[in-house]
Amino acid sequence: MNGVLLIGASGLAREVLAAGIEGAVGILDDDESRHGQIIGGVPVLGAVASAAARAEDLLITIGPSGARRKVVAMLAALGVADERFATFVSTGVRLGATSVVGRGSVILDGTVITADAAIGRHVVVMPNCTITHDDVIADFATLAAGVSLGGTVRVGEAAYIGMNASVRQQLSIGPNATVGMGSVVLGDVPASQTWAGVPARELGVQA
Ligand SMILES: CC(C)(COP(=O)(O)OP(=O)(O)OC[C@H]1O[C@@H](n2cnc3c(N)ncnc32)[C@H](O)[C@@H]1OP(=O)(O)O)[C@@H](O)C(=O)NCCC(=O)NCCS
Repeated sequence: MNGVLLIGASGLAREVLAAGIEGAVGILDDDESRHGQIIGGVPVLGAVASAAARAEDLLITIGPSGARRKVVAMLAALGVADERFATFVSTGVRLGATSVVGRGSVILDGTVITADAAIGRHVVVMPNCTITHDDVIADFATLAAGVSLGGTVRVGEAAYIGMNASVRQQLSIGPNATVGMGSVVLGDVPASQTWAGVPARELGVQA
């Protein structure tokens, strides 16, 4: 085993460490003031780009979807191969036998993923989410704690769904869209828009 480096000295990094990821040897972060600090029991070793010259597996622990995507693109430009990325499904996750989780994704405790769900690459699913049959979650999407998706929901690339939001079955959340915490989503959310409320509506638009 090569060991694992977390990319991003964030709250998410501390959550992944607290959830008991095996083999974590350090964290990389571009904030020089954090270099040398111990976070969650492991040292912050240096800048993110230094990953290219190292041998460990990598796990992106950056919460915002778009920022995670940028870092993966930056590392790819430095020649970091896709196979370098680890996947972390915490031991307290119930992952249905017919569901799949893509490389680089982080799924935290208490999440239940039922049947035939497909979770893409570099997706982050925070604690206690419910992902049900036939849901498809595209790369770089983020589900904050307690999100519930009905069956056959599609979550677009780099979309962000806030804490405890619920999405009715068979709906789509567009790429780069944001859904506010506590929302009840009853219709498709278009790409790049921010929707919130009960029922959810586009923010900033007069009713
Ligand atoms: C939806 C969200 C992205 C909007 O953030 P924002 O653009 O900074 O918006 P503001 O806080 O300026 O609020 C704008 C308006 O939307 C309303 N609003 C904000 N979030 C809302 C929500 N979740 N539900 C209902 N209304 C909401 C505000 O009351 C405000 O209304 P007003 O104009 O009538 O006063 C944010 O509130 C949110 O829910 N983020 C997710 C938080 C989360 O899950 N964090 C997890 C961290 S691990």
